Amino acid sequence: MSDNFKIGISILDCDYLNLGHELIKIKKSGADFIHLDIMDGNFVSQIAFGQKMLSHLVKSSGIPVHAHLMIKNTDEQIASYIKLQPDTITVHAETCRHLDRVLSMITENGINAGIALNPSTPISFVENILNRIKSVLILTVNPGFGGQDFIESMLIKIRKTREMIDNYYMVSEKKDFIDIRVDGGINASTIIKAKNSGAGTFIIGSSFFKSSDTVEFIKDLKDLIIKNRVI
Ligand code: DX5
Ligand code: ZN
Repeated sequence: MSDNFKIGISILDCDYLNLGHELIKIKKSGADFIHLDIMDGNFVSQIAFGQKMLSHLVKSSGIPVHAHLMIKNTDEQIASYIKLQPDTITVHAETCRHLDRVLSMITENGINAGIALNPSTPISFVENILNRIKSVLILTVNPGFGGQDFIESMLIKIRKTREMIDNYYMVSEKKDFIDIRVDGGINASTIIKAKNSGAGTFIIGSSFFKSSDTVEFIKDLKDLIIKNRVI
């Protein structure tokens, strides 16, 4: 695990027929956690994973699991995901009718709560619930598919989010670190830009699974981040 940044692997584009092998690959690579994209074919057009898969990963993968819920009826379904006790549950601000309540339910059950924002969603959506969360997940692609290009204008959004969180620290009692995570189109070039804009955690899907040596891949990314660190 790295000092002050983390890399998580989204298994959305892994080899589904060799899932056990892919999990071993992730664990050996030095990545910090699995990012599980849960899609209902409604909030996004695709369907991927669900409670059953999350349950197996939490019980048996031997690595922390973060659930990224891309589902329409978050308020109705959240309890079924909380029950499975992943390390983190990240919900989309756009889908929660009662965001504060959903986040409270997650944290009251001992799970780290995160909020995800689509590229077009303003950061003001998280302004009033910073007290409830451990992380903001900035979607750097439109959600639904792996393998898309990083949206460069999200770099400003990352900076603005960092600034908003830093301002919040000045006026609030809460000093727990709120991490900024980026998800979508992360590779050796975009990871540096995202890091230098204020992101601390990087979700990687297709570029990990395309790599021929995943141990080298993660090592190179971690070295790159350390070398390009803005002091
Ligand atoms: C997109 C998902 C991402 C995706 C990332 O909707 O939330 O987690 O799997 O994949 P890449 O790294 O290929 O953009
Ligand atoms: Zn995701």
